[in-house]
Amino acid sequence: MQTAVIVLAAGRGERLGGKTPKAFVDLAGKTLLQRTLDNLLQFSGFGWLQPVLSASDLSLYAERVSSGDPRVARPVIGGAERQDSVAAGLAAIPEEFELIAIHDAARCRVSAGDVARVVEVAERSGAAVLAAPCRDTVKLVEDGVVTTTPRRDRCWLAQTPQVFHRSLFAEALAKAQAEDFQGTDDAQLVERLGAPVQVVEGSPGNFKITVPEDLALAARLLALEEAGP
Ligand code: CTP
Ligand code: MG
Repeated sequence: MQTAVIVLAAGRGERLGGKTPKAFVDLAGKTLLQRTLDNLLQFSGFGWLQPVLSASDLSLYAERVSSGDPRVARPVIGGAERQDSVAAGLAAIPEEFELIAIHDAARCRVSAGDVARVVEVAERSGAAVLAAPCRDTVKLVEDGVVTTTPRRDRCWLAQTPQVFHRSLFAEALAKAQAEDFQGTDDAQLVERLGAPVQVVEGSPGNFKITVPEDLALAARLLALEEAGP
């Protein structure tokens, strides 16, 4: 199956703070979006990379991201919610791409190995997500009081890429839109159809840059990696 990836970069990065939109924040000399695209391009199975940006960031993209590889498409404009940005990205991808990966630009440390594994499982099964097993015990809480403690061995932290057969995801997205449901990830929309979503163990290093500490940690890890063993 021909495979495309939607690269979501239309958020503002409010929790990160600062003036620069998150995707264009510098990490050791490159923007987060540049690092994300460079890492995704390492996976030769992607024939189309579809950046999704905020309209106000198009000039930043032109200035700070070099997309020399012809697989990187012209960016499209996202929407107010992440799910709207996903819909905009999907609409821009030619129909011949029947396997669709969705990735947060804020996960700039994604590895080609993890991408290859989740794409392979999704191609076979219809839907797969990268996730990391929970290290901590998870509590479900209402009004400050624990309601449930799910078994830790059943708790996983969802990452991206999340990868789907296009027809399945398009149906899931249409249902969510019709019912005014906003998910916090993409797999949820497919789960609501009752379709199974496979979990592929990813690495904890594929964390999302969300708060300033995440950026500092990513910089430290990069420095360690560059220093070598
Ligand atoms: N995103 C998007 N369109 C939106 C909202 C989010 O494309 N309307 C993207 C972000 O750019 C990010 C990814 O979805 O790469 C994950 O979202 P998140 O980490 O929440 O990023 P932001 O929404 O930018 O951050 P914050 O919630 O702190 O403002
Ligand atoms: Mg957000």
